[in-house]
Amino acid sequence: MAAAGSAVGLGNIWKFPYITGEYGGGAFVLVYLITVALVGFSVMLAEMLIGYLGRKDGVTSFETLAPTRKGLWKFGGFQGMAGLLIMTFYSVVIGWILNYIVTASISLPSSVHEAEVTFTTMLHSDFFTQFFYHTIAFVIVTYVLHKGIKSGIEKVNLILMPALIIILSVMFVYATTLDGFSKALTFMFAPDWSKLNSEAFVTAVGHAFFTLSLGMGAIMTYAASMEKGTNIVKSAFWVVFLDTAIAIVAGLMLFTFLYQYGSGPDKGPGLVFISLPAAFYEMGVLGNIFAVFFFIALAFAGLTSAVSLVEPMVQYFIDRFGWSRLKASISMGGFFWLVGIVVILSGLDGTKEYLTWGGKNFFDWIDYITAAIMLPFGGLIMAVFVGYILPKTEVQATMQPFLGWAFAPWYFSLRYIIPVAMFVVMLNLMGVF
Ligand code: PHE
Repeated sequence: MAAAGSAVGLGNIWKFPYITGEYGGGAFVLVYLITVALVGFSVMLAEMLIGYLGRKDGVTSFETLAPTRKGLWKFGGFQGMAGLLIMTFYSVVIGWILNYIVTASISLPSSVHEAEVTFTTMLHSDFFTQFFYHTIAFVIVTYVLHKGIKSGIEKVNLILMPALIIILSVMFVYATTLDGFSKALTFMFAPDWSKLNSEAFVTAVGHAFFTLSLGMGAIMTYAASMEKGTNIVKSAFWVVFLDTAIAIVAGLMLFTFLYQYGSGPDKGPGLVFISLPAAFYEMGVLGNIFAVFFFIALAFAGLTSAVSLVEPMVQYFIDRFGWSRLKASISMGGFFWLVGIVVILSGLDGTKEYLTWGGKNFFDWIDYITAAIMLPFGGLIMAVFVGYILPKTEVQATMQPFLGWAFAPWYFSLRYIIPVAMFVVMLNLMGVF
């Protein structure tokens, strides 16, 4: 459950639709789906296995499990840094959602155009609102981290995750009755390969890691508290399945509304905030209620993921330096809160000019470096660790009972397919093709 809570987050409903919109639809979606199936699932199993066998924070798990060169392998666990970096903008986006919970309960924009103006005004000129809600997100996340995962967040999740799925399903069914739906289907599933430039390719692969929470130790940290004998393969399968299904449903629904109300898919990070409020408005008073519930559920999906982004580093400072949970939570929280302020400034008129390099602002750079580079690299380390470093007998003893005949192809993919695929991504990043 916790792993699903980590995977299903803003990546599915906020990020996936907007990057699909930006990078041109079908071809991008296809690369993402292929990566999830061929690479994501295998890496998920590898990462779960390391946590399950190591039973500690990421750094310590790598260190204890590595038969030799422990000092080197422990750096695999420092991938947790990627989570903290992601959190700098994740918290800002949760802040936007909190703001929308409040505004949606008062009034909704009457058209996509109006919704777009409202969002861009917040993004470009409203420092205070963004700062205020980012700070609230920081307070909630830090509080939950300090309390520990088990006591609060899992219980809340148990109610809100199904709520999110129900609201999404209702909205989705409604979307299928609209004319815009067929356009949304074509946009998402008819690949136009001419749109797949190298950045789109790398972003799609990176997103597969991001949305599944792979490559930075979140899944590993949670797997460390799995009971012995838990079926790792079954857990991994459900996480991957649920995560992918929610992303596809959310994407189709959001694009339907945009097409329906006469707008296009390329809305950038504001997509969910522009597409949905306008659709909710069409539903009348019921729309307000739906909107508020939707954004509340989305905020919770975001918060459960947020906690998992920071927890690996919190755990690390507790395990290795003997810090109290409170001290570790506040220090890590303070870090993403402070850097998050720079993320906000990088979108504002007046300051964004100083925080933009090569067409990407600070926000875009952090997103790109973490999702497209750090997470896939972390996934590669985990695949290599399980495929080459851990004794095969040990890996087999744990995984064979769950995987059966599929053990051989999985092991093969860790040893050969994933390293080759990641090598291609690296070449691509370096501009070789
Ligand atoms: N998977 C989360 C999402 O889709 C983000 C995340 C990435 C969480 C990496 C933890 C680790 O929103």
